[in-house]
Amino acid sequence: MATNRTFTMIKPDAVKGGHIGAILEQINGAGFRIVAMKYTKLSAEKAGEFYAVHAERPFYGELVEFMSSGPIVAAILEKDNAVVDFRTLIGATNPSEAAKGTIRARFAKSIGENAVHGSDSDDNAVIEGSFHFAGTEMF
Ligand code: RTP
Ligand code: MG
Repeated sequence: MATNRTFTMIKPDAVKGGHIGAILEQINGAGFRIVAMKYTKLSAEKAGEFYAVHAERPFYGELVEFMSSGPIVAAILEKDNAVVDFRTLIGATNPSEAAKGTIRARFAKSIGENAVHGSDSDDNAVIEGSFHFAGTEMF
């Protein structure tokens, strides 16, 4: 069943670059409601767990190192068709392939340091949201 919710992180590169405000403005402007939000930092262990699906990929070590390199903003977002519409809003994984005006086209530096995460399915949105937030932190 579609939950109309997705999960996002503003990644360490975009936080370091001072883009939290602009990214949140774009997310709100696209009609997403914030259900939960926190400014936090992933340990290497937690980052590894979050991206465990990529454990066998050649970029996994780099990904874990990057995602634990500095603070992030984690959030659960709500909107009709949230997962698909948010993936459209952020653009392709590789910013050089991301459509003009998308968050990654605007703020990502490279395929590895690509500004934001977006869940890829309704099931993963629930799993990833629960990874970061207790039920009492969702509104
Ligand atoms: P995300 O999960 O962060 O929203 O990104 P995505 O779905 O667009 O891409 P995915 O295939 O799930 O990859 C997860 C993250 O791993 C890093 N990556 N690096 N160096 C590389 O070739 C490479 N490929 C992927 C990126 O940070 C990507 O977002
Ligand atoms: Mg992904």
